[in-house]
Amino acid sequence: MTTSWAVVTGASGGIGAAFAQQFAANGINVVLVARNRKQLNTVAQNLQEQGVKTEIFVADLSDPGQPQKLHQFVQSKKITPLYLVNNAGFGDYGLLTKADPQKLQNMLQLNVAALTSLAHYFGKEMQKRNNGYIVNVASTAAFFPGPYMATYYASKSYVLSLSVALNEELRSSGVSVTALCPGPTESNFAVAAAAERTNIFAGKLPSSESVAAFGYRAMLARRPVAVHGWRNRLVTALAGLLPRPQAAKIVRRIQA
Ligand SMILES: NC(=O)c1ccc[n+]([C@@H]2O[C@H](COP(=O)([O-])OP(=O)(O)OC[C@H]3O[C@@H](n4cnc5c(N)ncnc54)[C@H](OP(=O)(O)O)[C@@H]3O)[C@@H](O)[C@H]2O)c1
Repeated sequence: MTTSWAVVTGASGGIGAAFAQQFAANGINVVLVARNRKQLNTVAQNLQEQGVKTEIFVADLSDPGQPQKLHQFVQSKKITPLYLVNNAGFGDYGLLTKADPQKLQNMLQLNVAALTSLAHYFGKEMQKRNNGYIVNVASTAAFFPGPYMATYYASKSYVLSLSVALNEELRSSGVSVTALCPGPTESNFAVAAAAERTNIFAGKLPSSESVAAFGYRAMLARRPVAVHGWRNRLVTALAGLLPRPQAAKIVRRIQA
């Protein structure tokens, strides 16, 4: 077993829990972060059975003070993580003008601000030791304007842009940043976003496990951008060729 540690946010289910499994399968200890203590305990127990150590930090990361508290918690445990997976995030289906303003704030705080703060705190330490891996979970949504989930799509565009820029800033110090871009994936995401009846989530979707395994390999290969699945790679490549208002019309039709 190694003494390396990973911090995974949104580790109580879906892609985050599957990412935590990837670390455990490779003998890496994990700090698990999310709001649901019970689910975190279940994930932790599972990982411990594979012989790795775990720590749990229960927090609502949309609370602006929590990213720093998470960093302080990790420091208090004398853990210097080699890996950070900024995975916690959510979407909300509907018109921006009809959205709950508090929910919009929480989404931006979680998807954008918390992710940025955590990349800052842990990236700084990785830079000092000249080694580290950050995975920021973006989305294929990052490549499009997304009517009916406008804020979510825009938040993921931010994640993609930030990640590529930060990767360039840190490259010479041995720290890589990977923007993992899954397409629609089997998890609680669609239900949490009230988007499960849209065409985007119709049909058989890839599992969270397959996305995490792909993301884990991309992280180790220090790839700046990793789009999961050949169909998603094709669609995101075509997105760059379309005028943005045209792309918005297409996404609107699909998500209506
Ligand atoms: N599934 C998809 O189709 C899809 C596609 C592209 C990108 N993504 C991205 O993938 C990431 C993971 O999503 P998922 O598909 O695994 O969805 P999920 O099953 O809903 O998991 C979301 C995770 O984030 C945690 N979380 C949510 N709000 C939080 C908060 N305020 N503070 C701390 N933790 C919070 C949840 O745990 P608690 O509820 O316990 O807090 C859960 O562990 C997200 O960033 C999402 O945007 C998903």
